[in-house]
Amino acid sequence: MEQLVYISTAHPDVQDRDIAEIVGVARYRNRAEGVSGLMMYNGRNFMQVLEGPPAALDAIFGSILADHRHFGIVVLSRDPLDARHFSDWSMGYGREDQIAGVSEEGDFRLDAETLETALPMGLEAELRGRLLRFPRLADDTPRAAGPSPDEPGLSAR
Ligand SMILES: Cc1cc2nc3c(=O)[nH]c(=O)nc-3n(C[C@H](O)[C@H](O)[C@H](O)COP(=O)(O)O)c2cc1C
Repeated sequence: MEQLVYISTAHPDVQDRDIAEIVGVARYRNRAEGVSGLMMYNGRNFMQVLEGPPAALDAIFGSILADHRHFGIVVLSRDPLDARHFSDWSMGYGREDQIAGVSEEGDFRLDAETLETALPMGLEAELRGRLLRFPRLADDTPRAAGPSPDEPGLSAR
């Protein structure tokens, strides 16, 4: 079992419907491949935690790296994991102050304050801090930070 955490910048043309599509595919494929985690989107950047068997992470992250809906992908960590933290989250999704997740009991929505109590116990302090700061990150970072998208427009997928 391994855990991979990355951040990236959304392609400027990305719309809410693209996010909905990503989350829909992610929930389905991650569940099928035994990968759990959390994805957050703050209107500008993505941050995602993926945990699962190394081969499944390689396959899914390979697709993510090749996805033109984002760029400037930076892996923050990839570490062995004794046990899943997000075992009942097939893929959460957060936008600005609304965090939506999927748990075994069904979908749920949270605001930035309740994210603190909703995050799994036992999460490493540094990762917990990064996740809690993420919803507000877009407010105080300049748009131009990071490399440029390598394509002028989004191709239909
Ligand atoms: C920010 C971001 C996060 C994504 N997260 C996942 C994910 O967790 N699981 C997944 O299967 N696809 C995810 N995707 C979609 C994949 O890039 C890819 O479109 C999808 O897995 C289908 O794979 P394929 O294009 O190789 O057929 C993500 C895409 C983006 C832009």
